[in-house]
Amino acid sequence: MPLSKKYTIAALLCGALIAGCEGEPQAPEGASKQSAGERSGVTSASGDLSVWPQLKPALAPDAGLETRISALMAEMSLEEKIGQMIQAEIKYVTPEDVKTYHLGSVLNGGGSYPDNNKLATPQDWLALSEAFFAASMDTSDGGVAIPIIWGSDAVHGHNNIVGATLYPHNIGLGAARDADLIRRIGEATAREVAVTGVDWTFAPTVAVVRDDRWGRTYESYSEDPAVVQAYAEAMVKGLQGEKSDDDFLRGENLVATAKHFVGDGGTTRGIDRGDNLVPEAELAQVHAAGYFGALPAGVQTVMASFNSWNGDRLHGHKYLLTDVLKQRLGFDGFVVGDWNGHQFVPGCTVNSCAAAINAGLDMFMVPSDWKELYKNTLAQARSGEIPMARVDDAVRRILRVKIRAGLFEHERPLAGKDGILGNDEHRALAREAVRKSLVLLKNSGNLLPLQPAQNVLVAGDGADNLSKQTGGWTISWQGTGNTRADFPGATSIYEGIAEVVNAAGGEALLSEQGDFSEDSFSNGNKPDVAIVVFGEEPYAEWHGDLSSLEYQQSTKADLALLQKLRAEGVPVVSVFLSGRPLWVNKELNASDAFVAAWLPGSEGAGVADVLFTDADGNVRHDFTGTLPFSWPEYVHQTVLNPYHDNYAPLFPLGYGLKAGQESLVGNQLTEDGETYTDGALEDAWLLVSRPRAPWQLQIAEAGQAPVAVTGNRATSGEDGNITVASIDMESQEDARQIQWQGLRAGSVLLAAEKPQDLSRYLKEGAALSFDVRVDSQPRQPVSAAIACGDDCKAELPLQDALQALPLGQWSTLTIDLQCFADKGADFSRVSNALALSSAGPLSLAVANIKYVPSAAAEAAIRCGG
Ligand code: BGC
Ligand code: BGC
Repeated sequence: MPLSKKYTIAALLCGALIAGCEGEPQAPEGASKQSAGERSGVTSASGDLSVWPQLKPALAPDAGLETRISALMAEMSLEEKIGQMIQAEIKYVTPEDVKTYHLGSVLNGGGSYPDNNKLATPQDWLALSEAFFAASMDTSDGGVAIPIIWGSDAVHGHNNIVGATLYPHNIGLGAARDADLIRRIGEATAREVAVTGVDWTFAPTVAVVRDDRWGRTYESYSEDPAVVQAYAEAMVKGLQGEKSDDDFLRGENLVATAKHFVGDGGTTRGIDRGDNLVPEAELAQVHAAGYFGALPAGVQTVMASFNSWNGDRLHGHKYLLTDVLKQRLGFDGFVVGDWNGHQFVPGCTVNSCAAAINAGLDMFMVPSDWKELYKNTLAQARSGEIPMARVDDAVRRILRVKIRAGLFEHERPLAGKDGILGNDEHRALAREAVRKSLVLLKNSGNLLPLQPAQNVLVAGDGADNLSKQTGGWTISWQGTGNTRADFPGATSIYEGIAEVVNAAGGEALLSEQGDFSEDSFSNGNKPDVAIVVFGEEPYAEWHGDLSSLEYQQSTKADLALLQKLRAEGVPVVSVFLSGRPLWVNKELNASDAFVAAWLPGSEGAGVADVLFTDADGNVRHDFTGTLPFSWPEYVHQTVLNPYHDNYAPLFPLGYGLKAGQESLVGNQLTEDGETYTDGALEDAWLLVSRPRAPWQLQIAEAGQAPVAVTGNRATSGEDGNITVASIDMESQEDARQIQWQGLRAGSVLLAAEKPQDLSRYLKEGAALSFDVRVDSQPRQPVSAAIACGDDCKAELPLQDALQALPLGQWSTLTIDLQCFADKGADFSRVSNALALSSAGPLSLAVANIKYVPSAAAEAAIRCGG
């Protein structure tokens, strides 16, 4: 969709909104010498710098600081310098390694703890941190003492450690529209992190999300660049302190990271680590908005992104990392890579990537393979493949941040202190954030707020479920595998409700399934109201990528629960836990009131604060949250925001009711999510890199239950008649090798649990398209079929077409969907979007299986008119 005229982001306008946005950039002394030399080597002029505002470095040049760096560097060997540029993960590195290789940094990844112990105490964390520090300062074998810096993903509180305060994920904070709240959360998070001896957090994420199917949507504050910009500034100030403070970056403050530079939120179809195809002006105005808040606030590190921009990986993007970020935007801190992100740069592997350093990456995040990468980088610096000036610039930047952060002085006023991690003050702040994050979307008959002195049924599998409430990046990476015991001091949403209701003389009954009987409440009555808490299971990164925004596409179990309660005459309040807006028209129709509660974190009691009045019926805390993301009326409104034409959301950006305000929606929302509001029909992906929901890859043989292909290899039958294995076509495991031994006929298929309506693809002249490599000639019949339930199947012979393809080479095969329709396929209820069958032995590889609109006319196998 093209940007419309409505699109006006003040971010570009130098002056008013962007602090420090004027004049020539002034590089700090010392740096200027290096970058002058380096600038001559800059060849990538692949952009238009004028779309980027020219920013001054956030901190005034400090000659004393640069002299101190020069003095240290004069003593450092090349080995020590390369060591500074390496960040290893605590599972794979010891203090001894840090001493030997002079490593610059360590991190703990999501779900990684000292001694691999999930229950490691703050003292355990601190002890490990002190051991790494001591090793980095140990010069008994020679070398210069340079303190190590430890980084961690404290992205919604110090979320890797049991007992920490967990704030709402960024999307919920976005609903609060309260920058001061964000600053205070930054401060409190910094204090909890400082207790454990961690110096640096990989936060804030300043992604501006375009397609809400992205699995990291909840890490984004808003689809509105202006909100992201303001919040980025506030969060950096909260975490690092104000530039003018004496203890900026020191004492109770941390080093922050603006991530992921740049364009992470704008990848096609919301594919994590995918390609962002926007023009440069849009990259600058929309996706970089957060940097115009974070950089002037003095953020000291920027994390390179996994994504590409117009096909080029950010980790190898000299123009964006060096010309734009470091020069045009005046960034004088260091650029850290993302988790092995350098490996995707052309010509690179995990173990070797001069191109990333040459592009402007200063520190590799290389969790386990750091030793090989260290050796190769050292060799590349020796050979000149990495210019010495580039090494020196990277090390200067790293040392600059370490000195500014006071790491050499090693004052850690909060380290090991009791009474900070998860303390009452921080929990009260998180609870305030929960209250402010709730967005009231529907409130028929002003059902909310509720009187507490009632019979309250609390239902839904999210009601008493800290994992659902806290989402991904919580103790574990995916936020899965945690139990109630992993959340000491937290309150579930149900617990908060029970407290309020019981205190007022009402009764709260918890039943996940919404069951109740005559004996459930002491007055013998049925529930006066049901609060149903439901929503997404936890996920992180690409694990959360969706192909459809429809909530519970296949089961609709929560809808059934809402409908059951309604049928029993109980008014229903839905509290929806999700990392993004989802298509919930049916659930909205089945609810009297509906609250978007996002992923509220450890302080579930904040929900009851707003849902209930006091005992006298007075509002205690009104709803103030407003939508940080537009809410879709149709399933296909995946890219939906006011900056585009045809903006027709169900609830617009900024929507949110207050108590007593008239609700806009009744119970008659369209339940046909497939009705399109704009003409664009995108490719239907069946298997692209991996099978795309709702499609599952299966092996089927007559008379046997289908075998689901979930891992990277699966076989049917004891004799292994058919095998499917993941292989590489272009990148990691993006293709499947299928081997038929020919013992029996059988198929490999893409099946959906619930039949899918794909009739629009037939109407829009789509073709089935897939890449195929025939590795052995088929000698017996092979077919491609589409099934529409048990009674409906259309099969096309494929043997001749395959025989015509060059053996052992990838080709793309396209088949007009009309060919299947002619043979009886009913595209309104497709259960197998493709089944490949062979009667005899055959070996082939397939990839990129899709239905492509308007491709029938050019298809290799045609049937249409
Ligand atoms: C994520 C980053 C994170 C890093 C360390 C990466 O996979 O993309 O956001 O900071 O891991 O856990
Ligand atoms: C992710 C990291 C995460 C780690 C946990 C990686 O694949 O990219 O973000 O911290 O796994 O083991």
